[in-house]
Amino acid sequence: MSTILVTGGTGYIGSHACVELIESGYDVIVMDNLYNSTEASLGRIEQITGIRPKFYKTDLLDEEGLKKIFAENSIDAVIHFAGYKAVGESVAKPLLYYENNIKGSINLYAAMKEAGVKRIVFSSSATVYGDPVRVPISEDFDVHTTNPYGTTKLMNEMILSDIAAADPEWSVLLLRYFNPIGAHPSGLLGEVPNGVPNNLVPYIARVASGQLEYLRVWGNDYPTVDGTGVRDYIHVVDLAKGHISAVAYALEHNGVEKINLGTGNGYSVLQVLHAYEKACGKELPYKIMERRPGDIASCYADTAKAEKLLGWKAQYGIDEMCRDSWNFTLKNPNGIE
Ligand code: NAD
Ligand code: UFG
Repeated sequence: MSTILVTGGTGYIGSHACVELIESGYDVIVMDNLYNSTEASLGRIEQITGIRPKFYKTDLLDEEGLKKIFAENSIDAVIHFAGYKAVGESVAKPLLYYENNIKGSINLYAAMKEAGVKRIVFSSSATVYGDPVRVPISEDFDVHTTNPYGTTKLMNEMILSDIAAADPEWSVLLLRYFNPIGAHPSGLLGEVPNGVPNNLVPYIARVASGQLEYLRVWGNDYPTVDGTGVRDYIHVVDLAKGHISAVAYALEHNGVEKINLGTGNGYSVLQVLHAYEKACGKELPYKIMERRPGDIASCYADTAKAEKLLGWKAQYGIDEMCRDSWNFTLKNPNGIE
């Protein structure tokens, strides 16, 4: 079976992808600098799958460290999750984001090139669509970004496309994620945000557990079903499974593909809040606030390409996403340790 290097493999999405890769029979090697995750994720992966992936505590900015990973292992493909992801922080610290997400990624691509590893699945984001002209969003929509984080995603897409244009043996899958939420149904893996969460579901989870008083709903005057923002929330296990289909495709085909990973369904902030109330069995307080700068009204995916090219389709619904988020929250009051 093929060997896959997972960068950012102890993080939220990466750890779930490791589980699905192992369960699909792949050999998995994880590299992460543990900036936003803990080594304990590897123990959780082992608890779920029975296998602890080989681990390199390495930074993308460490060129020699990267070369060593490729020299010591026979790697068939890379899934590249590692990077910084906080939109607001990227506006305040653009150089930090360009250094980590661009310089770090270039180091990875250079190490791959040197080792003759030419297959990569990259974590991009629906943020590359900016404020879309309509929904659902398909892959041929114009791209334009509104913050440095988004720009690092778009620049990586362009860099990888240029690498593949120069060498037709490369296989590049640019996966544009919509809004990943939820946790592994076992309650062993999930998202552990640093500080007060910016994202909706981690914030709601803290309201449900009593750590935060109420949800601040950023605006209720958008042209949506109830005036609150609409997004395409996708269960992290579905998203992880999308990577298994993507890696299988990358191992068989050359060239570049941009693919949306979403469910194709949009839910408003209040609809998500109500689904979470069902999951945790209590009413959750909220207050309507001003719109959050930079937010858009509606964002959900056209999923036809993922279905056709990868044969992949999300299976979980919003109730299961909230159930698994709450289960993880209850079981891990101190995060993954
Ligand atoms: P995460 O922070 O949980 O995981 C990213 C991992 O990368 C962390 O474990 C972190 O320690 C590691 N990392 C960061 N910089 C590194 C470096 N220089 N060297 C080595 N490791 C480094 O984030 P996530 O939610 O799992 O996201 C994974 C990827 O998906 C990211 O690239 C993110 O931008 C992208 N993405 C996430 C979302 C989302 O909402 N979670 C949406 C779209 C795209
Ligand atoms: N929201 C609230 N209150 C909160 C948090 C969020 O009302 O406390 C609302 C937002 O206004 C938005 C929706 O909930 O309408 C979702 O917000 P998130 O912050 O969870 O997610 P975004 O869609 O704003 O951003 C996410 C990722 C970004 C990525 C973007 C596009 O966090 O990294 O999707 O893919 F760039």
